[in-house]
Amino acid sequence: MAASASASLRHHLLHRRPRFPLSPNPTFRASSFPRRHCRLFASAVDNGDAPSPVEPSDGASVVDVNPPRGTRDFPPEEMRLRTWLFDQFREVSRVMAFEEVDFPVLESEALFIRKAGEEITQQLYNFEDKGGRRVVLRPEITPSLARLVIKQGKSVSLPLKWFTIGQCWRYERMTRGRRREHYQWNMDIFGMPKVRAESELLQAIVLLFERLGITFSDVGIRVSSRKVLQAVLNMYSIPEHLFTEVCVIVDKLGKLTREEIEKELISTGLPAKAVQGIIEVLSLKSLPKLEEVLGSDVEAVADLKKLFSFAEQYGYADWICFDASVVRGLAYYTGIVFEAFDRKGQLRAICGGGRYDKLLSTFGSEDIPACGFGFGDAVIVELLKEKGLLPDLSRQIDDIVFPLDEELEGPASAVASSLRKKGRSADLVEDKRLKWVFKHAERINASRLILVGKSEWERGMVRVKILSTREEFEVKASELQ
Ligand code: HAM
Repeated sequence: MAASASASLRHHLLHRRPRFPLSPNPTFRASSFPRRHCRLFASAVDNGDAPSPVEPSDGASVVDVNPPRGTRDFPPEEMRLRTWLFDQFREVSRVMAFEEVDFPVLESEALFIRKAGEEITQQLYNFEDKGGRRVVLRPEITPSLARLVIKQGKSVSLPLKWFTIGQCWRYERMTRGRRREHYQWNMDIFGMPKVRAESELLQAIVLLFERLGITFSDVGIRVSSRKVLQAVLNMYSIPEHLFTEVCVIVDKLGKLTREEIEKELISTGLPAKAVQGIIEVLSLKSLPKLEEVLGSDVEAVADLKKLFSFAEQYGYADWICFDASVVRGLAYYTGIVFEAFDRKGQLRAICGGGRYDKLLSTFGSEDIPACGFGFGDAVIVELLKEKGLLPDLSRQIDDIVFPLDEELEGPASAVASSLRKKGRSADLVEDKRLKWVFKHAERINASRLILVGKSEWERGMVRVKILSTREEFEVKASELQ
């Protein structure tokens, strides 16, 4: 502190001691058990071992401090990152004129039971609740959206544009960017049958990437339509009921070998010629080539051509490419499907979505054309880290209010309270040495230190220190802004 420090401040520096000891109270088990136990748990979990309670030296058992495998805690710095990312999701949704909605994480199991053999239905966190009802921690949000649209019935005016950000649970094998819980930003449009809906959703995704500083040389969006596969199946007169099953199998193309896929397709009853036809079409990466193979009067071709021409108008054509191998692994898609990927090919899909015009009828309701995407919080953060695009999200507080004497704790409350009412963030600190307060101010990037000292307070004043310039002055407490 400069030579201008007040008398009460000097007194404080010389005589004040913290009222509470700094070392943890050894009898307070919940938050103060020794750190070495935390480390033991961490290494057990990192190795994939089932964590077991550690016996501390006094014989009492201690709870595992790690969250369940594949799930995350959000300590303050992680929480700041999450909030920042969600703010970006919300801002894009706002400029796209979407309304926010929300749903319970716990849903009834029936909403997620589908018979097409999708991976997602084998990864359910499902159980019976205490009332004997079958429930799940939702693995995705689309069925909940459909449920709410059905519930609202005729009262909603179409088209309806909704977005939501929520936690999803999948019992996954964990890889980079894939975990057992993740947050998903979803944007969905109900009641827009034309590819205008898809083109709007693609713009939202591109706007998000651009806000984050990601360019089309980092990321691309592969686009196709399930109607491509439908057209091939029609060419070989394959019965309608095999369509979904074929889509789910074909989606495994990157994960299984071509031979394994062929075997699975044959086992559904498809003739070898149709299997070859499917595999050949799926390798197409050019729209004119697709048109050559399927003909121009096929719906898939018309939809895709329209979408790519819209993309030029919106100004995001550089971000998207046609790739017939994109089919997506969820059963309900019926038309255009898309997935964003990193061009280096190191990460899992960044986001994915498509048209699902027939989902509502699987819940016994009248169909409404629908289309949307899900965008996870994990892969995008990996990419931002890799590109050095994560913003500086250190903590920032406006003011620290610090009474220099115990008897000034009351006045300090009044000062902090008045600052907060004016909208400033104020951290009220007590029972610390001034040295600690300065360090703390640095840690939390405080702008000002408001010292409440005896001699100043008697004159209705407080001492203000601007921490960036070290400037220091007295101000009337009632006029503190
Ligand atoms: P999905 O492709 O299963 O689609 O998931 C969408 C996105 O969620 C993925 O691209 C990824 O970003 C993220 N994601 C999925 N699983 C995980 C995981 N285990 N760990 C981390 N992130 C994950 C759907 O869920 C569709 N319901 C999307 C949709 C909305 N389609 C239409 N509307």
